[in-house]
Amino acid sequence: MNVKMKAVVINEYGDNDVIEYNSVDRPEPDAGEVLVKVHAAGVNPVDWKIRGGLGQRLGMSLPIHLGGEIAGTIETLGEGVSEFQVGDAVYGIIGSGGFAEYALAKAGDIALKPANLGFTEAAAIPLGALTAWQAIFDLAKLSSGQRLLITNSSGGVGSLAVQLAKAGGAHVTAVASAHNEDYVRGLGADDFIDYRTRRFEEVAHDIDVVFDTVGGDTFDRAFPPLRKGGFLVTAVAFPKDEAKAYGVGAARVFCKPDADQLASIRHLVEAGKLKGHVAKVFPLANIKEALALSEEGRTRGKIILQIQG
Ligand SMILES: NC(=O)c1ccc[n+]([C@@H]2O[C@H](COP(=O)([O-])OP(=O)(O)OC[C@H]3O[C@@H](n4cnc5c(N)ncnc54)[C@H](OP(=O)(O)O)[C@@H]3O)[C@@H](O)[C@H]2O)c1
Repeated sequence: MNVKMKAVVINEYGDNDVIEYNSVDRPEPDAGEVLVKVHAAGVNPVDWKIRGGLGQRLGMSLPIHLGGEIAGTIETLGEGVSEFQVGDAVYGIIGSGGFAEYALAKAGDIALKPANLGFTEAAAIPLGALTAWQAIFDLAKLSSGQRLLITNSSGGVGSLAVQLAKAGGAHVTAVASAHNEDYVRGLGADDFIDYRTRRFEEVAHDIDVVFDTVGGDTFDRAFPPLRKGGFLVTAVAFPKDEAKAYGVGAARVFCKPDADQLASIRHLVEAGKLKGHVAKVFPLANIKEALALSEEGRTRGKIILQIQG
């Protein structure tokens, strides 16, 4: 008889009414995979976007097991896995199935979690930190001494981008709401712009790199602050020819798993240079509430599901 576990599943696209909290078969790892006992999972905008139809556009097929960011312990090793031992505490991003008591991960996609963090705090790190790392360092080539402007510095991605950029020696201009000024300055931001009362493009000049995680009108306004030859990287929009007119570069980041980067991120966390902020913790059964809160788009830091003790 198959071992059962609780998991969050959708059988159709739609709003929170399509969310099912079901008893399903616990998966078995294939070669190169591990089964992770999930202690905590990060809730991200991509989860309700997949629920709402993005899953189809990404080529996922129904039923979809939601959840892509986890922290937990290795329960079972698939054939040929030598990176980990049963019981190792790990964190990382996976394609799907993270909102469950157990989840499969490719061994090469995850890494040991920071030793100084509990699982709840560790689950707040991987997606935001990998996205920020790949955006500002891999794509935009941000280097020490350069000036970075982040259009949403208080969210799950931006709050980690501020800290990574500071750890890399950059000067950071943080855009956020006034009620988050102390928070983002506490993360290391040098300059602050309240986006509700000022237009950042009228205040900021000679910026080397802009990192945008807002999109829409904010993306359109994110070019003027750049110096000639600067770079705009966005996690939300799809740059077309706008960059040419401004004499800058532009790219969209598509966050992908990277165990080496997760290991570097772990070292920064353990050195006290990077921390996640947990905004609210829900039990797995309250997944609809957690997704609804994420969808409001007002979270400071990260929403976490507490799954196994
Ligand atoms: N391409 C990729 O690989 C990738 C990876 C990760 C995330 N993303 C995308 O990046 C976006 C951000 O993700 P996230 O997890 O950081 O979001 P989030 O945590 O939900 O962002 C919430 C924060 O955004 C702030 N905010 C709302 N409107 C704003 C505006 N107009 N200007 C500045 N700040 C604003 C809110 O603060 P106030 O309301 O208090 O101002 C709140 O603190 C999402 O669309 C997500 O899907 C893409």
